[in-house]
Order: sequence, then structure tokens, then C-alpha cells
Amino acid sequence: MTASYTICNRLTIVVGFLWFALLGISLATPPSNEEIVEDERDYFEVLERSLLFYEAQRSGRLPKNNRIPWRGDSGLEDRGQNGEDLTGGYYDAGDFVKFGFTMASMTTLLAWGAVSWPQAYEAAGQLDELREAVKWATDYFIKCHVSEDVLYGQVGDFALDHRFWGRPEELNTSRPAFKIDSDHPGSDLAGETAAALAVTSILFRDSNASYSAECLRHAKELYHFANTRRGLYHEVIKGAAQYYESIDYGDELAWAAAWLFRATNESKYLEDAEHHYQHFHLKERPNEFYYNKKVAGVQVIMAQLTEQQEYQNAARAFCDFSVRDQKRTAKGLLYIDKFGTLCHAANVAFICLQAADYPAIGNSEEYRNFARDQIHYILGGTGRSYVVGWGLNPPKQAHHAAASCPDRPAPCGWAEFNRTAPNPQILHGALVSGPDEADRFLDFREDYIYTEVTLDYNAGFTSAVAGLAQLLINPHE
Ligand SMILES: *[C@@H]1O[C@H](CO)[C@@H](O)[C@H](O)[C@H]1NC(C)=O
Ligand SMILES: *[C@@H]1O[C@H](CO)[C@@H](O)[C@H](O)[C@H]1NC(C)=O
Ligand SMILES: *[C@@H]1O[C@H](CO)[C@@H](O)[C@H](O)[C@H]1NC(C)=O
Ligand SMILES: *[C@@H]1O[C@H](CO)[C@@H](O)[C@H](O)[C@H]1NC(C)=O
Repeated sequence: MTASYTICNRLTIVVGFLWFALLGISLATPPSNEEIVEDERDYFEVLERSLLFYEAQRSGRLPKNNRIPWRGDSGLEDRGQNGEDLTGGYYDAGDFVKFGFTMASMTTLLAWGAVSWPQAYEAAGQLDELREAVKWATDYFIKCHVSEDVLYGQVGDFALDHRFWGRPEELNTSRPAFKIDSDHPGSDLAGETAAALAVTSILFRDSNASYSAECLRHAKELYHFANTRRGLYHEVIKGAAQYYESIDYGDELAWAAAWLFRATNESKYLEDAEHHYQHFHLKERPNEFYYNKKVAGVQVIMAQLTEQQEYQNAARAFCDFSVRDQKRTAKGLLYIDKFGTLCHAANVAFICLQAADYPAIGNSEEYRNFARDQIHYILGGTGRSYVVGWGLNPPKQAHHAAASCPDRPAPCGWAEFNRTAPNPQILHGALVSGPDEADRFLDFREDYIYTEVTLDYNAGFTSAVAGLAQLLINPHE
């Protein structure tokens, strides 16, 4: 804008024409990142919507206080190989498989945000909703953990599931269940589920002591299983390999041990976490923080727990690199991958907000400004919001079967997938995969590279928004 005025002043002869032309351009300039959030109430609304997104993903028998009018009971026949009750939990994305690994990862991130910044949820009037969102997952994990060394890690099969497009309430595909056990272990899956249950035990310590204790008991057993029977879950649950491969399990073992230490103060867990950290060479600087790459999270939590320089240096290296040297789009979005572009950026924002709460790690102000920039980009900084149902020009065609269906009893099927029209149901709070490297976004249901929504995409984002809200409430912390 400054440049436009300068040009205008110099070219006084053509001022009339040029003035209007430039005015037109400047009027079309999207709001800057700073203008997107007026005050904490905007963050509170986003928190509320994000929790509504999780509610729309619920599987199983819905409680009376269900707030999503177009959702009902579904997946009531979900059973284990011996008839165990595996109802409940969350559908992963716009489809209907229940993937334990990403569900656990999202649970850990959501609960971590809430134990760090409970005042944000409280001020937003969302603490109960947040706890319910977490508990919907942990209740399911407890069902899946049918005995000490047996954990169901997936219900539903991708190939079968993807023949169906419609409402989960009308899902008629068979739903096989897949598990890990001591002869077919999965240290990544069991470790992440242990971490989720450990941090949830902290979240519920004051509000439901017996539930907190139950979560902790399962967390300890699952960590023991993960640690003593080593293996990769996607080599056992082969259907998961194509979609949610875990790559390695050292990070989940360290992560689970660190969370168990935080939940119990039992030194053996800290010793284990330190051992895994060294043994699996977790000190190298990662490029990202993702459901299958948790090293940056391990570094930050270890820095927080131990205050040791080794972990502080590692956490600082990650945030300094992300803030200063990681690739960005022209409009400033951290760019790590074309799948889940916004999730990647929000996850890093979340991790560096965590680091910023411990000034010994690095430049807190720089990390917080960075996080704010990334989240404000998502909330509308380039002229469009990427959160369904919120803000300026939000996405209208999220890749989501249930939301693409008209009100019942109208039929719903592949014709709805094909329709190039806004989803009839608004999937409030869902964060879409996001724009490409050129800050370009195609709002078409079938272009899932842009419009996919998942449990995992929303988790770090929600927690980062909670962190930013907490800073506005308590600016001096
Ligand atoms: C599921 O429902 C669809 C549409 O009503 C139908 O075409 C299909 O045959 C059904 N599949 C099964 C396994 O019942
Ligand atoms: C605590 O959690 C248990 C297990 O889900 C539940 O049955 C109970 O009602 C909860 N208690 C409170 C006070 O919320
Ligand atoms: C662990 O120790 C910390 C610091 O002393 C304390 O704040 C926390 O309440 C303890 N947690 C448990 C579960 O004992
Ligand atoms: C959806 O579109 C695909 C190709 O674009 C087409 O093959 C298919 O028949 C369409 N299905 C329906 C139900 O409209």
C-alpha cells in the first residue's frame, strides 16, 4: 500500500486513472494476519467449533446431549475378534475407519493443550466439552485394551469402507477389527495409546479421580507392553500401512515414558525416557512434528520435565529452525508437505508455544509471534478462513461423507460425492488440509489434497489456539 501511494504521488499526470486502479487493488488486499483476531473471544469461538468437529466424528451410541443434529447412533455392531464391544471412539476423517494410532495421537495433543492452558478452555466455557472430547477417545481405548498385552488398533477396513459414501448411520459394510498382541506387537501404537491415557489421567485428576486412576492403570500396562514386546504396528495391522504408517517406534516409547513420568513422578519412567532418547538417537533436529514423527514433542517435554541443557538445546534447535529457516509460502505459511499443510504448520506452532512457556529453551517472544502468524493465516490472514463454518469465506466442500448428505430421509450416496455444491451440513470447526505451495486452495470435495479433514489435522491446531488464548488472558505468564 505504501508503494502504491508513492507511485501515485510521482505520476500526478495520470493520477485520476491510476488512483482508482490502485485503490481497487488495495481494497482487494486481504486483511493482514494481525487484523484477523480482534480479541480472545475469536479464539474462544474457534475452540468451541473445533470441539464440535470432534463431536461430529463420534462413532457409537450418542448421548442425549449430542449437539450435532445431523448425526445419530452408528457403528453399534463394532466388535473384536472374540465379540468384544468396540463401539465408540471417532471416525478418522470423512470416511468411517477407526484408526487407533491417529486417534491416540490426536488425544495426546488435545489433552496436552488442556493440561497446559486450562484457563483458556475455562474462559471459553469449554473445559467440560474438552474433557468430554478427550474421554470419548479414552473410553474407547480402554475398551480396545482387552487384556494386558492385547490392544485393538483398527476397526473397519479401508478398501471395504471406501466403496461406501453416505451417512455413518447407514453404513452397511462389514467392519473387521485388527489387534496387536505379544506375538504380534506394535510399540508405536501401544506407546502412543499409553501416552494418550497418561496425559488424560492428568487432565481428569481433579474432576474425576477414579477415571484418572483407571486411565493411568491402562497407560502403565500399555507402556509395559510397548516396551517389552517391540515391533511396528503397521506390520501387524497391514491395512494401516498405506495410510498411517508409523516409520519407527523409538519416539513413541520415549514419549509414553515421559508422559508417565509427568503423570506419576516415578523416576523409573524418567530413566526409561532418557534411555530411549539416547538409544534411538532422538537428539537430531527433526523437520516437523506429525502423528508419526513425535521427536520434537519428546524434546520439548523432556526439556520441560528435566530442565537439562541437552533437551533445551534440542528443542531450541527445532523451534529456531522452524521459525527462521523452514520453507514458507509467499504469504508466510510454513510449508512442510502438501498433505495436511495447515496441520503441519499448526503442529509446529503448538510445539513452539509449548517451548515458549519455558524461557530457558529459546526466544519465547519470537516463538509466540511465529505461532500467532501461522494460526492467523489459518483463521483468515489471506482473505479466507480454513476452518469450516468460521470466519471469512470458509471452506464449503470439506471432503466428508456425512456432511455431504442432505437432511434425512433424503437418500445419500455417490451422487452427493460428485455434486459440486456446498455440503448441506456444516462441519463446524473442521480444519481442512489447506492450500498448496502457491497459497492456492481449491474448494472441491473430490480434491482431498485441499479439502480433507481428519482428527489429526485439528488436534495441534486446537491446542495452539488454546495457547494463544491463554496468552491474551494472562499476558504476563
Ligand atoms: C449397502 O447399501 C447400498 C445402497 O443402499 C447397496 O447398494 C449395497 O448393496 C449395500 N451393501 C450391503 C453389503 O448390504
Ligand atoms: C467418572 O468417570 C466414570 C467412568 O467413565 C463415570 O462413570 C463417572 O460418572 C465419572 N464421574 C464423574 C463425577 O464425572
Ligand atoms: C510430581 O511432582 C511435581 C513437582 O514436585 C508436583 O507438582 C506434582 O503434583 C507431582 N505429581 C504427582 C502425581 O505426584
Ligand atoms: C460420479 O462421477 C464419476 C466420474 O466423475 C462417474 O463415473 C459416476 O458415475 C458418478 N456417480 C454418480 C452416482 O453420479
